[in-house]
Amino acid sequence: MKKQLSAVVTGANRGIGFAVARELAERGSRVFLVARNGEAGLRAERELSGFGDVRLVPGDLSTPRTTRMAARSVLDACPRIDVLVHNAGVWPSRLERGDDGIERAFAVNHLAPFLLNHLLERALGGEGATARIVQVSAGLYVKGRVDLEGTARGDDFHAIRTYATTKLCNLLLLERFAERFEPRGVTVNAVHPGVIRTGLGDRSGLLGVLLRGVKQLWKTPEQGARPVVRLALDPTLAGVTGRYFDLDKETPLAGVARDRALAARLWAQAEALCGLTPKAHHAAGDASKAGE
Ligand SMILES: NC(=O)c1ccc[n+]([C@@H]2O[C@H](COP(=O)([O-])OP(=O)(O)OC[C@H]3O[C@@H](n4cnc5c(N)ncnc54)[C@H](OP(=O)(O)O)[C@@H]3O)[C@@H](O)[C@H]2O)c1
Repeated sequence: MKKQLSAVVTGANRGIGFAVARELAERGSRVFLVARNGEAGLRAERELSGFGDVRLVPGDLSTPRTTRMAARSVLDACPRIDVLVHNAGVWPSRLERGDDGIERAFAVNHLAPFLLNHLLERALGGEGATARIVQVSAGLYVKGRVDLEGTARGDDFHAIRTYATTKLCNLLLLERFAERFEPRGVTVNAVHPGVIRTGLGDRSGLLGVLLRGVKQLWKTPEQGARPVVRLALDPTLAGVTGRYFDLDKETPLAGVARDRALAARLWAQAEALCGLTPKAHHAAGDASKAGE
């Protein structure tokens, strides 16, 4: 009998994450939905239970502190992970900082997957097992610009560029994660899912009304889920790692995402902000001062 895979999907209560969870469940995986809002999470769990084996894991990825709590809940529910989909994401229209002083999109889109990769490492692969990590990325990464001094705190906040920058951060670290996980049999790939009709980046006012109108022309969440699920399950992609896909097409990363010196500094900064190094307290303290 074929082994049932355990798949963890963050931000799975709506949008692309919901559609990914549904497709994984329909294809026979046991799916753990990570959702920050209990009510929305339970609703998604109920709806998705009609398609397969689905369980809710409460988890808020807004700050490294809450992400640690989410990781503990994931490990309790699911001690062996075959598929980890980093899907949760935000596109804020204005600067918001967490209680640690870190800009919201930087925390959710960049630091949360970084920290989860570390904290969930022991549940992924090892001892002859394999696992896949899929980072839901965005083609807009090419517009990103990382400022190691200011981006974490949102000092350079911009309503479009900040989102792009957080997606660039994921891709700058892709190759390093691929190298780190290779000995455990874990692959790490990133995918742009297309331009998809979801709540991402919704705005209020006239701009919001216009945006909602334009979104009617965009693809459905189910269409956005397909390239993500392909990276998670397609047997022809076994062993493929450290790659970026535009939908189903493997695509070389633009130069801006291939700066290894910047990647090394970004990695060290993320370790510090996430409390993974002795310098952590200092760096997080710096960020929280900026939030005062
Ligand atoms: N839509 C597109 O055109 C597009 C294009 C390229 C890439 N993407 C990427 O696709 C991914 C999914 O986006 P989407 O379009 O499906 O957006 P969405 O409909 O806005 O869904 C985002 C999901 O992330 C969750 N989330 C946000 N902040 C969170 C937090 N602090 N902790 C836990 N979960 C959190 C949301 O939960 P709540 O319901 O609680 O807010 C929601 O479930 C994102 O990474 C996005 O960058 C989307």
